[in-house]
Amino acid sequence: MKIALLGSTGMLGSKMAELLKTGGHELLTPSHSEVDLNRPHGIENFFKNNHFDVLVNCAAFTRVDACEEPAKFSMAWNVNGTSVGWLAKFCKKTQRTLVHFSTDYVFDGQKEDAYVESDLPAPLNTYGKTKLQGEKLIQMENPVYYLVRTSWVFGPQGDNFVNKIADLLISKPRVEVVSDQVGGPTYTGDLAQFAIELLEKKAKPGIYHFCNEGFASWFEFAKEIQKQTGFVSCEVAPVLSENIFRPAVRPANSRLDSSKAVLTVGHAFRSWRESLGDYLMKDFKNEPT
Ligand SMILES: NC(=O)c1ccc[n+]([C@@H]2O[C@H](COP(=O)([O-])OP(=O)(O)OC[C@H]3O[C@@H](n4cnc5c(N)ncnc54)[C@H](OP(=O)(O)O)[C@@H]3O)[C@@H](O)[C@H]2O)c1
Repeated sequence: MKIALLGSTGMLGSKMAELLKTGGHELLTPSHSEVDLNRPHGIENFFKNNHFDVLVNCAAFTRVDACEEPAKFSMAWNVNGTSVGWLAKFCKKTQRTLVHFSTDYVFDGQKEDAYVESDLPAPLNTYGKTKLQGEKLIQMENPVYYLVRTSWVFGPQGDNFVNKIADLLISKPRVEVVSDQVGGPTYTGDLAQFAIELLEKKAKPGIYHFCNEGFASWFEFAKEIQKQTGFVSCEVAPVLSENIFRPAVRPANSRLDSSKAVLTVGHAFRSWRESLGDYLMKDFKNEPT
C-alpha cells in the first residue's frame, strides 16, 4: 500500500513509520510545515498533488494541559478538530482510507467498567473536547475510516510517562504519583502494529479501542517502571489527584475495553508490563526528557 503519514516525527508516528517501512509499504511523510493542520486550507493541495491509498494521521496537538491556555485554544481546535474534518472530507472525495487516533480523554471516567466503543463520550477537558470534535467530523464526512482510541501511550521519540518517571527516579529522593486514576498503558509498537493489521486485514471500518492488556493506576505504573529499571533509591509514594494541581482535569477511569480489537484481528495483545519491558530493553534511552 502507498501510505501518507502525518505526524511522522511524533511518538506514535515515528514507530508507525518504522513498522510500515519494515512491512514493505511505500511511505510519504510530509513534514509539519508541508501539511500544517493549524492551517487547514493547505490540506487540499496535499491530496491533489500526491498519490497514496491510505492517510494515517498521527499528528495532533497532544499537550493536554496547554490546551487549557486561551492562547492555545484555536490551535488545539484546528489541529485536533477542524483539520481532521478536512482530512476526512478529502479522503471521502478521493476514495482514500483514513486511519486516525483518538483518546480515552473523550470519556468522563464515571463508568464503573472499561469503556467500549459505543459508550457516550463526555470529555472533561479541552484536549478531550477537541479530539471528540475530530471524531465527530470523521463520522459526519464518513470516508472509509479506522478511528482508534488509545490511552497512556509510551514509546521512543516521546515526552512520555516512562521517561519522565525514569528521570525522577534517578534525580530525586522521593516522587509522588497519582493513585486514583486508572488506565491502560500502551506501547507505540503494539498500537502501530494493531492499526497496520486493521489495514492489511481489511477489517470492518469504524471505531476501535486499543490498549495493551491489563490496567494500572499511574502509581502502579510508576512502581513497575521502578521495578523494571532497577532505579530503587527513590521512594515512589501514592498521592490523590485532588492534592496535585493540573490545569486539565483527568478522568478517574481511563480504561478502554479492547475486546472488539482482539476479536477483529484474531489474537490477544501483550500485557503492558511485557511491552514496558520490551520498550526499556529495545528503545529506551536513559536521557533526560
Ligand atoms: N500520548 C498519549 O498518551 C496519547 C494518549 C491517547 C491518544 N493519543 C493520540 O495518539 C496520537 C499520537 O500521539 P503522540 O503522543 O504520538 O503525539 P506527539 O508525540 O505529540 O506527536 C505529534 C505529532 O503531530 C505533529 N504536529 C503537531 N502539530 C501539528 C500541526 N499543526 N500540523 C502538522 N503536524 C503537527 C508533530 O510534529 P512536530 O513535532 O513537527 O511539531 C508530531 O509529529 C494523537 O492522535 C493523540 O491524540 C496519545
